[in-house]
This record gives sequence, C-alpha cells and structure tokens, in this order.
Amino acid sequence: MTDSEILREKILNLKEKKNALILAHNYQREEVQDIADFAGDSLELSRTAASTECDIIVFCGVNFMAESASILSPDKTVILPEITACCPMADMITVSGARNLNTHFPGYQYTDGYAYPSDFTLRDIRKLHPGVPVVTYVNTTADVKAESDICCTSANGVKIVESLDTDKVICVPDKNLSAWIAKNTDKEVIAWDGFCHVHDRVSAGDVISARKEHPDALVLAHPECRMEVLEKADHITSTSGMLRFAQSSVANEFIIGTETGLLYKLRKDNPGKTFYPLRKDMVCPNMKKTSLNSVLNALESETNIIKVPEEIRAPARKALDRMLEVK
Ligand code: 13P
Ligand code: SF4
Repeated sequence: MTDSEILREKILNLKEKKNALILAHNYQREEVQDIADFAGDSLELSRTAASTECDIIVFCGVNFMAESASILSPDKTVILPEITACCPMADMITVSGARNLNTHFPGYQYTDGYAYPSDFTLRDIRKLHPGVPVVTYVNTTADVKAESDICCTSANGVKIVESLDTDKVICVPDKNLSAWIAKNTDKEVIAWDGFCHVHDRVSAGDVISARKEHPDALVLAHPECRMEVLEKADHITSTSGMLRFAQSSVANEFIIGTETGLLYKLRKDNPGKTFYPLRKDMVCPNMKKTSLNSVLNALESETNIIKVPEEIRAPARKALDRMLEVK
C-alpha cells in the first residue's frame, strides 16, 4: 500500500467509527476531494451541512464555510482541518473596526484602488443607505452575516436579489459578483469594494490569448471575475454550475475561468472532453492548505473545532435560512 492509501484507509475507518461526514469544496486538492462524502460549491455544501445526520462535520475548505456549517448545524462538531485556511475576500469587510485589505497575498498586483477607506465598515454603509437590505455573499465572517438581511452564493446571487421587494440592495463584499448581479437585475446595486485575488487577477487579454490558443473551446467564467472577463465568456456560473454545464454541453473543449482545483472533477467526469485553465496561476493557496494528513490529524484529535457564539449564530442563521428558502 502507498502512504496515501494508508492515510485514506485510516481516515475512512475513523470516519465510520466517529460517525463523521467529510465535506470538500470543489477547489480542494484531488486526494481530499476523493476522500470526501460530498464535494460541491458553497450553496450545495451549505445545504448538505444543514441536512446531515452525522455527529461530526469535517469541512475541507476555508473558515467561512466551516462557520456556515456550524451556524446551520449547531449540534454537530464542525472541524476545519487547517485552522489557518481563510478567504482573504471575507476579511475585506468588517461589522466594525478596520478591515484587512492586503496582508494575505504579498506580490499580488492591485490594478485599482479601494473605493472605501480602510476603516469603512458594514455599519457605515448601512447608515449611508437606511432601509436598504444587505445581501451578503457567503464568503464573509459569521458576524458580517449576522448583520445582514440575507446571504447569497455565486450560484444564486441574481435570484436572491430578485427575491427582495425593494428597488435597491447593498451587495457585499465582492465588487465583481455585485457587478454581475447588477447586470442581471433592474434593481440598483450598491456594491462593496472587495474582491477575490484569484479571480480578480484575470483580464480580458487573458481570455483573448486563451481563445487564440484554443479556438474551439467555450469559455466558462466564475462571477468573481471582472466584468471585462465576464463580457468575453460564453457562460458565467458557480463552480458546480460549470460541472453541470460541461457535462450537458455538446462542446468538447472548455477554458475554465476559476480556481484550477475544479479541473480535477471536470476531467474525471468528462473523460472525452478537454479542459484548459484560463490562467495557470488561478490557485487559491488557502484552499490548498488541507491535505490527507490534516484531515486525519483533525479527525483523530477532534481539534480545530469551529463554533460560532450563539449571539452571532442566531442572526447569521436567519440570513442563511432566508437564502436557503429561496427556490
Ligand atoms: P462557489 O460557490 O462557486 O463554489 O465559489 C466559492 C468560492 O470561494 C469562489 O472563489
Ligand atoms: Fe476566497 Fe477567492 Fe479563495 Fe474563493 S478562491 S476562498 S473567494 S480567496
């Protein structure tokens, strides 16, 4: 047996013994996706976390995802195998106090400045637009969700905004997802200025070069990409939306505009089709922190438990429940 087969077997035995469920985001390492009971996008993972009967949820992803699982399943033990796995975009908005704009990704080239000062908070934007509901992308901390009216994911952002009975909405924290929502609704969208450093680095020029190299391929892009990229794409959707699209499409070649971890499942599910990354460096370092070793260690020791305090959990749950109720 190889080292990785031994690790797999240990994890599977322990999982059975402890009645644990392993969830993995579509960007996780191949071997982690393979060990998971379920791999999916943020919306699917939230739905699964809300409905599971197990005692322990091992969440192979980043911290806001494990927090959402804890908010939705407070009686379960939720474990984040790599405690430092975070989403830099989530730290770009705070309820109060300074936000973390750039410490996570040294070397990343900012192409535009921030629209809001670094001490501008969710409460400040609410004060500027009294009565306007706040639609919060799930890529946020639990306390930001707790002060929001409703959550959304990349899969349902437009639907969620459309479900509200106001002409204006505040969308936080991703400026690119907000621009995509604004393009697809008649409502006025007041956007925050956060972004995902993995998706925001892609330019229209990258799409043009990729198309030149692969002229028969369709371009699929995640709504966290800039509008200049989305305008040049053939289809815009969440990570699991890309999996469904590629499977049902008659096309044989696809250029994938999201984190490269998704290529693993795309290739596995579609052996006769070819997938190219839009940019090879679309890699989320935080999503790649989790390994089989970290899953085993966390399951063995039951450490790295994510528990959201009840005074934050209850209002955050309302915002997530409201989202999950939108069909
Ligand atoms: P999905 O919900 O589309 O899987 O995206 C989550 C994410 O973190 C994108 O960067
Ligand atoms: Fe956050 Fe971007 Fe990583 Fe997704 S890919 S977890 S949005 S940094």
